[in-house]
Amino acid sequence: MCGIVGYIGDKKATPIIVDGLSRLEYRGYDSAGIAVFKDNKVQVEKYEGRLSVLADKVLEKDYNGTIGIGHTRWATHGAPSDANSHPHTDQTGDIAVIHNGIIENYMKLKEWLIEEKGVSFKSETDTEVIAHLINYYYEGDLLDAVFKTIEKMEGAYAIAVVCKDEPDKIVAVRKDSPLIVGLGKGENFLASDIPAILKHTRDVFLIENDEVVLLTKDRVTIYNELRQVQAREIYKVTWDVESAEKEGYEHFMIKEIHEQPKGIHETLNRRLNSEGIIELDEIKITKEDLDKINKIYIVACGTAYHAGLVGKYAIEKFAKIPVNCDIASEFRYRDPFIDENTLFIAVSQSGETLDTLAALREAKRRGARILSVVNVVGSSVARESHDVFYTWAGPEIAVASSKAYTTQLTAMYMIALHMGLTKGALSRERYDEIIAEIGKMPEKVQSILDDFTDIQHLAGTQFNNESVFFMGRGLDIDVAMEGSLKLKEISYINSSAIAAGELKHGTIALIEDGTLVVALATQDKLYEKMLSNIKEVKARGAHVVAIAKEGNKEVEKSADTVIYIPDTMDELAPILSVVPQQLFSYYVAVARGCDVDKPRNLAKSVTVE
Ligand code: AGP
Repeated sequence: MCGIVGYIGDKKATPIIVDGLSRLEYRGYDSAGIAVFKDNKVQVEKYEGRLSVLADKVLEKDYNGTIGIGHTRWATHGAPSDANSHPHTDQTGDIAVIHNGIIENYMKLKEWLIEEKGVSFKSETDTEVIAHLINYYYEGDLLDAVFKTIEKMEGAYAIAVVCKDEPDKIVAVRKDSPLIVGLGKGENFLASDIPAILKHTRDVFLIENDEVVLLTKDRVTIYNELRQVQAREIYKVTWDVESAEKEGYEHFMIKEIHEQPKGIHETLNRRLNSEGIIELDEIKITKEDLDKINKIYIVACGTAYHAGLVGKYAIEKFAKIPVNCDIASEFRYRDPFIDENTLFIAVSQSGETLDTLAALREAKRRGARILSVVNVVGSSVARESHDVFYTWAGPEIAVASSKAYTTQLTAMYMIALHMGLTKGALSRERYDEIIAEIGKMPEKVQSILDDFTDIQHLAGTQFNNESVFFMGRGLDIDVAMEGSLKLKEISYINSSAIAAGELKHGTIALIEDGTLVVALATQDKLYEKMLSNIKEVKARGAHVVAIAKEGNKEVEKSADTVIYIPDTMDELAPILSVVPQQLFSYYVAVARGCDVDKPRNLAKSVTVE
């Protein structure tokens, strides 16, 4: 998620903007930049790397301009680099733009600007298109040029614009990306998040979707898309900065659990063309390449490995290609069967996990084609892969992964469907049916999140368990492994995931009065078997919490508690069945007073062996 800050008033803009950006650093970014007026020119400085790189450069130059805009970039289109950093300017350098979000039709607009208007681009970003479009429409009125520009744009964006010929104003737009205005005396502020301006004012205008804002130092005017002036109540911010960074949630983890519907939606919908076909433009694997691939390895660590297990199932089911799924730290020492007919899929939220990176390098050395599923654009795993599928979950701050997992699942399903259709292993009818059901996942996940209080209450009665078992069959055991990892890593309760069919081969010896067992029973074809396994552990005194599809009432006769997930096809159930487990683990950890976002002994990215 990018950060936006703007200032217009009588003070020096640069230190105010840099300080505002520093309060947005928690959101994750890979570069930073500023456009500030100096001697009636728009000065732009922007650098890959930490905000301190920019600060050191601009603060020493002591820019005296009193109007400016600044940006921290979380890369989506175009790897992190000075050139791809914001602000972006038009060819004259007189118009500077910063942007948070994605312009979905930027390629079409870019081609038109190049072919019809002879524009030459300096970056790989979608944002630069906006600057050139504003220049194209500019006839002495910046506000008018911005209105005409956004009529051409499709996607989600918050933008801010300054123009050399109108040095007394900032124009900003909000469409599906957050934007607020801070109100001062003889000065006004713009930001993508409240923490950036809290130091200066607690009086805020909350900008709504499709609204355009004109800021001068003495006035803020809000327009709707019909250019009609909108009235707006002043919102008085009562939060402190700490809670503002979590947008009112108590922890980053619960915020990110609730961000999953958006993450799934973005990961899917931005890659569907007008015929509903997945377009993986960042993956260059052709049908000929696919026909040569006779084996696939999915290799990862932790949660990403659990997503890989579901990916194995999906690729084998939809694309009919055999898949090995392996833990990265084991894979590289196995002397694996890898050659040029092998596809190696690395899954990694951070893209910096050393075990995964080392495994990738080993597979590459042996001739495999490398595809990675990564959340951080331009990370090491992404840079060393032949093809990359970005999950676009936004920065995941909490150490325990949540939205990264469900967007990784979405990515694996999309890759499997793409392969299946390309190879002719999947009918177009079945393909459309599955894509349509994935498209319903955001609202189905949301319906589980809306009922979080039931799970919160359950956690309040179960947080004192010293050990917990998660069990399932088929895909459910893969998701049970993720649920078990969530619980142990944030609540420090000893938990394990077992294949329910394995109970009788040893684990059932551990079941005694009051042992908590979380039983996943979402797979229709294994439902009856799971009912038997639930009865097995109940007979030994277990307390059973079952996770089942709506409508499967039979399980209520055996389990003590049933958490229902919306009905869906067996193959896609993991996207839903993980959510109650994430919520349960979170509320248990909170009840135990654990440091949920930063659990002991753990790091967000394990860059050591
Ligand atoms: C998951 O909650 C943990 N944070 C951990 O298992 C993590 O999934 C693992 O370290 C892999 O990280 P990556 O996805 O960044 O490679």
